Amino acid sequence: MDSIMTDARWTLVGTIDDIPVLGSRVVRTPDGDIALFRTAADEVFALEDACPHKQGPLSQGIVHGRRVTCPLHNWVIELATGEAVAPDEGRTGHVPVRVEGRSVSIALGMARLSRGGCRKACAHV
Ligand code: FES
Repeated sequence: MDSIMTDARWTLVGTIDDIPVLGSRVVRTPDGDIALFRTAADEVFALEDACPHKQGPLSQGIVHGRRVTCPLHNWVIELATGEAVAPDEGRTGHVPVRVEGRSVSIALGMARLSRGGCRKACAHV
């Protein structure tokens, strides 16, 4: 786990190089553990590190395309939304990510976390 630096509503959590390709890194935040995922195309996504099924650690799952497969029972979760792929149903919290150069920031204040519901201006419905 790593510490974080706060700058207004965006929180700097490191660089893209801190996240393995097709892997993840967990950051501890006041809102709980957030898993940062990096795709083969260097896209970065952030999800609450808890599967919508039985709270499995998504950070330990397998990243493929823009999805991650949970290590516990193989549910597949969309990285962009936290939604479970059918036939499974459910959603984990997703957090907006900003990549500037190699720096990665997350917007915790706009996170849609499963235990707290949508807060502030999150457009996710
Ligand atoms: S806890 Fe993730 S699939 Fe069951």
